[in-house]
Amino acid sequence: MTVSNATALDEATVESAVADALAAIDAAATGAELKAARIAHTGESSPLARLNARIRELAPADKPAAGKLMGAARGRVTAALAARETELERTEQAARLEAERVDVTAAAVRRLPGARHPLTLVREQVEDVFVAMGWEIVEGPELEHEWFNFDALNIDPDHPARSPQDTLFVEPEGAHLVLRTQTSPVQVRSLLERGAPLYVLGPGRVYRTDEIDATHLPVFNQFEGLAVDRGLTMANLRGTLEHLARLLFGDAARIRLRPNFFPFTEPSAEMDVWHPTAKGGARWIEWGGCGMVHPNVLRAAGVDPDEFQGFAFGLGIERTLQFAEGLTDMRDMIEGDVRFARQWGLTGR
Ligand code: DAH
Repeated sequence: MTVSNATALDEATVESAVADALAAIDAAATGAELKAARIAHTGESSPLARLNARIRELAPADKPAAGKLMGAARGRVTAALAARETELERTEQAARLEAERVDVTAAAVRRLPGARHPLTLVREQVEDVFVAMGWEIVEGPELEHEWFNFDALNIDPDHPARSPQDTLFVEPEGAHLVLRTQTSPVQVRSLLERGAPLYVLGPGRVYRTDEIDATHLPVFNQFEGLAVDRGLTMANLRGTLEHLARLLFGDAARIRLRPNFFPFTEPSAEMDVWHPTAKGGARWIEWGGCGMVHPNVLRAAGVDPDEFQGFAFGLGIERTLQFAEGLTDMRDMIEGDVRFARQWGLTGR
């Protein structure tokens, strides 16, 4: 008769295998570690699996109790695995959420919109005033022939403005090219091109040998106005400039003309504007030059001075912006710092 020499499963051994399994499960800090603990403590070669396999060798009388013992032991381990799995999933998700957290109260990165330069805004504002009166906008070259910049404008060959101290002459010598010192040459160009009658506004850049400072720039902008028609007088000039002044500076603005000399106008005047809302209080401000077009200029442009009369004016755009806005330093206008331009935004004054 064969007697099984296998002894009943030792409860303490089972308990210690379970305790090892529970400790490993508890210690698993990630899904991967938990998987390793599952294999080590419930896999085919785990202590619990090996204890379980011994049930087969037991005496039939001992099997039910051993089966129950092992079932309970494996049940505790399986339950612990499931609980730990849920727990780890929760902490891993929480970590993921934390990592993906968006602070909805943080300041957003914004692209600030740019701005149009206030000189452009002034120029367009003035153009609009004249276009509304039926005038046309004309342009001339910045590299100009000496004849247009000086001779045709009745400026003598030895006038001081023609000296290299005031004017930038362009090589080669003898080509008679200058960077135009004023927008007045567009008077002659547009008359030659279009003939009289004519109402034109010519905005554009001009060049002088001036040192740069708070009120002078060697490159700046002017606009030239020219009206040529039958029967024009100083009254038309005055009315036109006063209309412009009111649209730019308000209904209370006025202009005043003081006698002056320009070779290309006769009579000539210096124009002041009464600026009612000037910074520091209403006052007269020198604004530009003007006058009745000299007969020699009309002749140079092929227009008969007995039939046509004209008036003309020239204003500085930088200077207009400077006193219109009470700016102390013109250099701010050319430095290209967007913070300067942004004060007027896109639409302007
Ligand atoms: N061209 C002159 C200057 O730059 C300004 C000027 C004066 C223009 C009188 C005119 C005028 O048309 O009539 O200083």
